[in-house]
Amino acid sequence: MTVSQVATVVADGGSVDDAITSRFSCRAFHREREVPRAVIEEILAVASRAPSGTNTQPWRVYVLQGAQRDALVGKVCAAHDAVYADPSLAAEYQEEYEYYPTKWVSPYIDRRRENGWGLYGLLGIAKGEKDKMHAQHQRNFRFFDAPVGLMFTIDRVLGRGSLMDYGMFLQNIMVAARARGLHTCPQAAWNGYARIILPHIGAGTEEMLVCGMSLGYADVDAKVNGFHTPREPASSFTHWVE
Ligand SMILES: Cc1cc2nc3c(=O)[nH]c(=O)nc-3n(C[C@H](O)[C@H](O)[C@H](O)COP(=O)(O)O)c2cc1C
Repeated sequence: MTVSQVATVVADGGSVDDAITSRFSCRAFHREREVPRAVIEEILAVASRAPSGTNTQPWRVYVLQGAQRDALVGKVCAAHDAVYADPSLAAEYQEEYEYYPTKWVSPYIDRRRENGWGLYGLLGIAKGEKDKMHAQHQRNFRFFDAPVGLMFTIDRVLGRGSLMDYGMFLQNIMVAARARGLHTCPQAAWNGYARIILPHIGAGTEEMLVCGMSLGYADVDAKVNGFHTPREPASSFTHWVE
């Protein structure tokens, strides 16, 4: 039976807000605490209610757990280490779409720097400590110890608008995860390693990697999870046209 959307009353709106505002980029998970498959299925089913232009539903999700997860982690960590040892290899691992601008300008570059140095500062990593930075960055490719790794792809024939739809789907996953006591970290870091990831997950040549995501139970004692990012007040980006 289809649930009547129009007649549904969100009884506790505060919980919805809590799910949204308690989402943060979790960078330390309990590796041993598995997420039941039924819970992952539920999250993805809820997330699939995301809107998309003309209901195109451009998402394709690959779920990695156990041996498949570990094998991908091994492959990408090895590649990431190799690039660190020989930066000329970076040319082999190009992102398929530009997530970030090629030319950074203020205020975005300022926020980016504040974010990066804030995180490293919390972890006691000083400027120039390249090995430590590499090790921290490498944690991306271990899914920050999350037991579940998600990879998201999109059909290459689709347009830019579909990436907007995709963002709504991703946010839905992260909020639905919160409703089940889980945390997430969306990860563009994987994108450079698409040529390793796509064959590993069995994606077709028509698919492009959008990003990855870590999913699991947060390690609440991990220092890195105390990192709280600021936001500009809504009044600073809202223009009341009167
Ligand atoms: C699409 C996307 C990709 C991201 N990629 C990464 C990533 O690769 N590694 C990482 O540690 N954080 C990543 N982040 C997290 C952002 O740094 C984070 O969302 C931002 O600093 C705001 O912090 P918050 O998510 O804790 O609110 C990504 C976020 C988004 C939306």
